[in-house]
Amino acid sequence: MKILLVGSGGREHALAWKLLQSPNIEKVICTPGNGGTATLPGCQNIPIPVVDFEGIVKVAQEYNVGLVVVGPELPLSLGIGDRLASVGIEVFGPTKTGAQIEASKSWAKDLMHDAGVPTSRGAKFTNPKAAQAYVTQQGVPIVVKADGLASGKGVTVATEVEEAKKAITSLFHQGFDKIVVEECLTGEEVSVLALTDGLSVRPLIAAQDHKPIGEGDTGANTGGMGAIAPAPIATSAMMARIEREILQPIVRALGRRGIDYRGLLYAGLMITPAGDPKVLEFNCRFGDPETQAILPLLSTPLDELLLPCTQQRLADIPPIQWRSGTAVCVVTASGGYPGTYGTGKEITGIKQAEETGAIVFHAGTKQLGQRLVTDGGRVLGVTAVGENFQQTRAAVYGAVELIQFEGIYYRKDIGYHKIQV
Ligand code: AMP
Ligand code: GLY
Repeated sequence: MKILLVGSGGREHALAWKLLQSPNIEKVICTPGNGGTATLPGCQNIPIPVVDFEGIVKVAQEYNVGLVVVGPELPLSLGIGDRLASVGIEVFGPTKTGAQIEASKSWAKDLMHDAGVPTSRGAKFTNPKAAQAYVTQQGVPIVVKADGLASGKGVTVATEVEEAKKAITSLFHQGFDKIVVEECLTGEEVSVLALTDGLSVRPLIAAQDHKPIGEGDTGANTGGMGAIAPAPIATSAMMARIEREILQPIVRALGRRGIDYRGLLYAGLMITPAGDPKVLEFNCRFGDPETQAILPLLSTPLDELLLPCTQQRLADIPPIQWRSGTAVCVVTASGGYPGTYGTGKEITGIKQAEETGAIVFHAGTKQLGQRLVTDGGRVLGVTAVGENFQQTRAAVYGAVELIQFEGIYYRKDIGYHKIQV
């Protein structure tokens, strides 16, 4: 079978890499893909932007693909799932209405309330003055969030009232017309990515992302600077609670709203000091870089998980198989990210890094003739897999150190939580 994969990040490189390990998959076509998918055997890039739905439909029909897998949230939130389904193409990814679970924080909050799912208390505002008055009344710490898509950068966890007020002003200036202000939760974060066919739900192993740019979880939030899987805090008892108290009620609540959600449901959770899982956010797609840590541990062929979602037979599949051990993914970024950064810097050392046994997933890269150059904020995700956590962590950093490009930046403490426990 041929698969069309929409997107161009590290997540898409990992999805293509995993799909091509399946005996059932003859080819993966990426629209538009990146420098990594360009050179992956069995993979072909076609330079069509992720929002060019007509171009994507045409490619899907021309190549007679059996499935379209949508990586990023933007095309899902604009209705790519609906457009592909309207011409009879199977698609892994929710409809436009379903994608609101990520695209609108206030919609997601309402859904969580309907479903009785634990989350932080909050309020939505269309008026900056009212939001600022609420912040003054509630005090700090407090969290200010854009109501729309912001690539993981629309959230401010404020420890000063002035900081929260500034964040409110800034979001309205940026053009957001609605924001959410919510209670600040403490505890340990975990990402649970679950497959769903709209009827039942199957969580993958949990991962832990590292969102802030700086070591020790300091500085601005990014799309994610590294991930480990499985996340130690997500014991099997905790995963059972997450499934029962969060994932299943959300899938039922989506169904009650008439939403046919077939794809990935990503729950960003805080495990509170009392040991209770609470929802920070939902995403409507695979996490990035969580996917680059989860998929290297997956033994079941990926298409055997994705197709049962689109064909609504997820309840019938056997248990998902995982290899033992642990995976650590470290993201190398362009200096300046998540602010402004340069591109077009030559990247060297990938082959040497791969020779150590690490897997190098490309995110913001581009092939320019014989040269591979940087083409984004997050440039590469380097993953090592091993039985022992400390050795795996040493292995991934050994590989990362072999990679060079001007201005390279990465966090040196990915997985440090686990080392402390
Ligand atoms: P989100 O995009 O909603 O996941 O927010 C990005 C990051 O901001 C999360 O991964 C958390 O680290 C932090 N965050 C979001 N909401 C809260 C909250 N209510 N309390 C504490 N931290 C939060
Ligand atoms: N790594 C966070 C996300 O994918 O949203």
